[in-house]
Amino acid sequence: MKQVGTLADLLNWFYPMPDDLETLRPPFRPRRLRRGTTLRRMVRETRLSPSDFIYPLFVTEDDDVCREIPSMPGNFHWSIDRLEAECREIVQLGIPAVILFGIPRRKDACGSEAFAADGVVQRAVRAIKAATPDLLVITDVCLCEYTDHGHCGIVKHGDVLNDPTLELLARAAVSHAVAGADMVAPSDMMDGRVGAIRAALDRAGYSDVPIMSYAAKYASAFYGPFRDAAGSAPQFGDRRGYQMDPANRREALKEVALDLDEGADLVMVKPALAYLDIIREVKDLTRVPVAAYNVSGEYAMVKAAAERDWVDGQRMMMEILTCIRRAGADLILTYHAKEAARILQDHLA
Ligand code: PBG
Repeated sequence: MKQVGTLADLLNWFYPMPDDLETLRPPFRPRRLRRGTTLRRMVRETRLSPSDFIYPLFVTEDDDVCREIPSMPGNFHWSIDRLEAECREIVQLGIPAVILFGIPRRKDACGSEAFAADGVVQRAVRAIKAATPDLLVITDVCLCEYTDHGHCGIVKHGDVLNDPTLELLARAAVSHAVAGADMVAPSDMMDGRVGAIRAALDRAGYSDVPIMSYAAKYASAFYGPFRDAAGSAPQFGDRRGYQMDPANRREALKEVALDLDEGADLVMVKPALAYLDIIREVKDLTRVPVAAYNVSGEYAMVKAAAERDWVDGQRMMMEILTCIRRAGADLILTYHAKEAARILQDHLA
């Protein structure tokens, strides 16, 4: 009778080991390359760098404002007079670009502050380019923050009109370029807006200003905190008449192809997290840089869960950003940019 003592003995009793232990040796051992931080770092396929990030900034017309956005902790409404210090910090963190969203004092039916020469974004562009010329300034081109009804185009009988809106978007883009914007990013999802903006920029002498189109932009519930922050929630209805149905994949490829035909220099997928498959497909389809927008709701989810200690917010952030890059994004628009850049800088130091 065999002695039964340890747990191993007991297991052996019920499930006797084969005599030839060799048959249990796995022929391949991927774990070899996971031993130790150094080796893991060497074989890493995707690297994150502050230079991958584009940081969104919300600019108000009031003076002396640095007001935290409640649903987006760590992000602020800035007045133009306080932007300079913020932009210096962004440069120091190695983040190459910002994208500007304006919060105008005055809204009207056609969003005229969106293309006013002294509008909030136009003034902010001038201030930032004067203070930090090396910081690339991208402007969001849309009407929803500037219209009293909160839609991204001109509204008639409850309908958002496509073609009459193009003219206004083109005027906004040109006014940004005149102010010194390095790149414009139309986010409205009207048909033909990339072509209209390209033609208007060229005509005005700004053929060197690139267009990053929000090419595959979905009608998403993940924009909630942004609409609070920018005061741009539609006053009636929703954006499903112009933004894409989250259920659609091939349509995203069509939108990207159309925007490239019309002259987009970079294309964006938005949101990012629930759309990693789209990012990958767009990346494989195109030869232009692909950006992904890690949107406000994605940011807020991480922050809210971390606040309750339900998750490790910092690790989650780095994992999310790395995986958006792994999916194929060359650039990430993210509210995490400064926090992540700080972590990356510390690791490199
Ligand atoms: C403007 C615009 C929106 C976002 C970027 N540009 C809001 C919307 O489409 O309703 C969302 C960004 C975010 O949620 O972080 N059209």
